[in-house]
This record gives sequence, structure tokens and C-alpha cells, in this order.
Amino acid sequence: MTGTQPVGQAEEPLLPDDPHSYSRAREVAVRHLSLDLEVDFESRSLAGSVRLDLDRHAPDASELVLDTWQLEVGDVTLGDGSRAAYELGEHDPLLGSPLRVRIGDADSVVVHYRTHPEARALQWLEAEQTSSGHPFLFTQSQAILARSWVPLQDSPAVRFSYDATVRVPPQLLALMSAGNPTARNGDGVHRFSMPQRVPSYLMALAVGDLEFRSTGPRSGVYAEPDVVDAAAWEFADTEQMIDAVQRRFGGYRWDRYDLLVAPASFPFGGMENPRLTFLTPTLLAGDRSLVSVVAHELAHSWSGNLVTNATWNDLWLNEGFTEYLETRIVEDVYGERFATMILQLYRQELLSALPRLDPRDTWLEQDLAGRDADDAAGPVAYHKGSLFLSMLEQVVGRERLDAFLTAYFDRYAFRSMDTPTFVGHLRAELLDPAGVTPEQVQLEAWLHGPGLPDNAPVWHSEAFADVDRAVEALVAGRVAAEVDVSGWSPHEWIHLLRALPDDPGAGLLADLDETFGLSESRNSEILFTWLRYAVESGHVFDSLRADRALADFLRRQGRIKFLRPLYTALVETDAGRARAREIYAVARPGYHAVAAGVVDRILDRS
Ligand code: BES
Ligand code: ZN
Repeated sequence: MTGTQPVGQAEEPLLPDDPHSYSRAREVAVRHLSLDLEVDFESRSLAGSVRLDLDRHAPDASELVLDTWQLEVGDVTLGDGSRAAYELGEHDPLLGSPLRVRIGDADSVVVHYRTHPEARALQWLEAEQTSSGHPFLFTQSQAILARSWVPLQDSPAVRFSYDATVRVPPQLLALMSAGNPTARNGDGVHRFSMPQRVPSYLMALAVGDLEFRSTGPRSGVYAEPDVVDAAAWEFADTEQMIDAVQRRFGGYRWDRYDLLVAPASFPFGGMENPRLTFLTPTLLAGDRSLVSVVAHELAHSWSGNLVTNATWNDLWLNEGFTEYLETRIVEDVYGERFATMILQLYRQELLSALPRLDPRDTWLEQDLAGRDADDAAGPVAYHKGSLFLSMLEQVVGRERLDAFLTAYFDRYAFRSMDTPTFVGHLRAELLDPAGVTPEQVQLEAWLHGPGLPDNAPVWHSEAFADVDRAVEALVAGRVAAEVDVSGWSPHEWIHLLRALPDDPGAGLLADLDETFGLSESRNSEILFTWLRYAVESGHVFDSLRADRALADFLRRQGRIKFLRPLYTALVETDAGRARAREIYAVARPGYHAVAAGVVDRILDRS
């Protein structure tokens, strides 16, 4: 322990039933967690112990229930050193195994354990799979994978402070979602302390050949040596983004905000691990054009990490709010023209996804009992959620909404929030004082109704109007070289590619690729949108150039946002399915377990 006081109230915690956790935190809740782990690349395991300090809410509770996933559990002892009886329940394919410990009246428990080599939160990369030529390990705990590397109460409503001792090979650096070192220390033993209480899905660890570059007084970038300078350049606006959110929505409560650029197999664009956002290197476009992902992960420091969805049914309170904040940060730092393009693209993504979804899955408040917790993470939570706040902004005005959000983050800081509680707060603190009735904003239709209510804002990007004219000209036969694309951001390109007809004729696509080098684009979003379109239109089967680019892209990075649509489009045709299998045979060993699971399902179904 470091002696720092934990941050974040433990009083009156909001602990609704969580369909994705065995823990019964209303009876006994973990308040602090103390890890002591050895990172063994050889056996691909973490081994050691965790001490869990408990708050006892039900005085007669005699059992602590933890979530685990394929953990090998050894001795369990109580605060006084005595052995505790425990039972590891049957493995459930959605939830893993409950670990039931007889705690008597103890207020702390130590569990000795080892992780499984296939632990789903952990990706172990061999030296050949990283750009530094050193092995790398990173964790991804959201939504319910933390239980595969720590036995804990794996529910977002349970918050704890933590400290950790992590032993790694001395040539590597270890980092956590906590106070971090900036350099290796010779013996490979790293100590961490995280005084701010966090939920389990924000526990994170990365180990690798990492260097640090500062980007401002409280921000910096960690990455493998060959990309760290490029990363520091790409994300140089981070400090400005922090200032922008603070000005609008209240102080940053986590001390530092650093970024870690993970290896290319990182399955997400970004993950908002407190104090240390993890990012995909596919954001390194060389022109700072993809940094809205940083704005997004930074915004989670308020919406998500400070006020946290109580269960995964309430994910929209994390992701919808964060997407709204993201677009506000982008507007403040990069201007309205840029922000409006993003807003319009997000709305378009929602509209094109809605027809494929079960109507119940298009409500903001979800019901995921008996289902995968990750099912909530789709366009509805993000885009419908964000549109809901934009709609409120249009009704009550920006000033009122900002004041409401600032007060909300402050009032519920370091606590969890579910949809009914939020709605009560919304009515009392925003709608009623503004003289707006729930009916006027169609509150019920947003929360518990299908599709997109008709008071959803509509965006008109001027930049896209120019692109639409270019598309018309191209379709009418104008050659690509005559289209003025100077100053285009990835968003104009994405809009162009989305606006092209389904069957544009072979000549036009070859001309576009030839003229603009789309298959060789360094910008992952442009390349992705192009490749998807090339697959959907069948162009990829006529163009060796596009086919090579596709295979290369699917093998060199593992971001689910890119993999899912590309493999899904491929399996639509016999030729595409065969090609998908060929590419995947080589690519799969490089993918994260969650990404491989997504692609497995796409290929198995086809
Ligand atoms: N917290 C999410 C990632 C996540 C969601 C992981 C659900 C596991 C389950 C993160 O903040 C996120 O939304 N990342 C996005 C980028 C963002 C700009 C939309 C991503 O990875 O694409
Ligand atoms: Zn997010």
C-alpha cells in the first residue's frame, strides 16, 4: 500500500442485479484489491495472488462470491492467515465459474491463482508479432473479461481502488490503468497504485518494449520504440482536448492522461483504461485525421469511468454520452465543419444498421439476461445514445445541457448509474426546470421504443454536399483525375465511397484506385471503406491490386471494427468465402481471442 487515500465514495452504492456477474455485492463488496503477479511469457500465464479487502453490507453474510473464467485456483486464505474453504462452480459458457469462499467474519481474503494460457482478456504476442521484436502482453477487460485474469466481482457497479506488484522480464516495461513508470527499472519489478475507485472492466495491464514521450504537462504517449515518435506527433493535440472537456464539463479527476499505442492486433480503436487509454496503431495516419478516437476515449474519463453504467444493459450511458462528448471535443478543437461530418456519418451508420436489428435491440435500455454482454456494443448504444443528447441540446439549448451534464458528472462521480435512475435525474434536473415535458421530447420512444424517433436531429454537412456533386459527376462519366480532392479528410472519402452506386461499373473503380491510390492508402479508415466497397461491389475479384491490399490489411491488423464488415461482406459469395478462409488461415493466429471469436462465427455461419 502506498498510503494514498482511496478516491470515490462508497456510500449508498447503486447495485442493481447484474445478469453478467455471480457476485452479490449488496451483501459483501470488494473495496480494495491488491495484486501480486508474475508475468510468464513462456507459459503464457499470470501467477500469484490477489488480496481482496471487503465491505460487509449484510452483517450475516458468510460467503464471498467472485467471478472467474478458467482460473486455476490454489490456496485461499482469510485476513488472519487461516485457510478458507471454497468451491469453484461449474463453468457457464457466458459467465465462467463462480468462486464461493466461506469468509466467516473476515474482512479480507487472499486468493492464490494462475491464469489459463487461453485467458480471454490476455493477448500474448511473440517477438515476431510486434514491431519491436520483443514479446508483448496486453489485457482487454471490457465487458466481462477481467474475470479471466483476476478473481473479482466482475460487475461495473462494484468499484475498488487497487495496488499491484507486477514482475516482468527486466528488459520490458509494465504499465497499468494506474500511476505508471516512464522507464524500465532494471529488475523488472513494478509497483502500481490506483487510488481512484474503478470498476473491474477498467483494470488493465500492458507489458512490452515500451518507451515514453511527453505530449504536455499531464499527458504523454507510450509505444514500442519504432512508433513512439510518430505516435507523439499524431496525438500532440491531446492536452488541448483535455482543456476542451474541462472547460465544458468539469475537472479531469484522474491526475494524468496517457496513451498507449498497442500492437496492431489490438481489437478496438481505443479502450478507455483510466489514466492510460489503449489505442490501435491503425490511428497513426500521419496527419492527425483519426484522433477523434482519442477524443472519445478521453471523454470516457467523465462518461463511463467517472459515472459508470451499472450493468451492461445501460451501456448507452457510457457510449452514447461519450460519443456525444467526443463530437463536442472535436468541434471545439477542430471546428464545426469537421464535427458535422462525423455526426452525419454516425447517423448514417445507425440508419443503415437499424433494419437488420431486432426491434427490441434498438431500445436504448437493453435486456441482456442470458445473452453475451458484448451484444450491447452496437450502433444503438453509441449513435442513438449520442443523438438523444443532441436532441436534448436542440430542445433546451447547449448552455443548459452543458450545465446539466457538468452537474451530473459531479453529483455521481465515482458511482454507477442505471437507466431508471438517470431518467429520474434527467426529469428533475433538466426537463422540469426547463419546462419541458417527457412527451415533448418523446422520452419513452427513445428509451423503450424501436428505431429512431422522429425528433432525432438531422445533420447537413456542407463538405459532403461538395462530395455529393463529385459523385454525381463520376457516375455521369467524369474521370477521377478531374475531381478536386484537395484538403479532403478521411470523412469526405468515406462519404464518397458510401455514396457511390452499388454497381458502379468496373471502369470507375479501377479509375478511382489508379488515380487516388486507394488500395495503398496509409489511412486505415479510407483503406477500410474502400476495401469494403471493393468486396461488396465485386471489384476485389477483378483487381489483383485490391485483392492484395485486402489480404494484407486483414493480416496486419486485428481491429474488430474492420474485420467484422470485411469478412461479413466476403462470405456473401462463394468466391469471397473461399478467399476469406484462405486469408483467415494465415491471419487468425495474430488476432486477439475476441476478434478471432467474431470471425469464427462469421465463417462458421457461412
Ligand atoms: N469502451 C469502448 C470499447 C469497448 C466497448 C470494448 C464494448 C468492449 C466492449 C471504447 O471506448 C470504444 O468505444 N471504442 C471504439 C472507438 C470509438 C471512437 C467509437 C472502437 O474501438 O471502435
Ligand atoms: Zn467508448
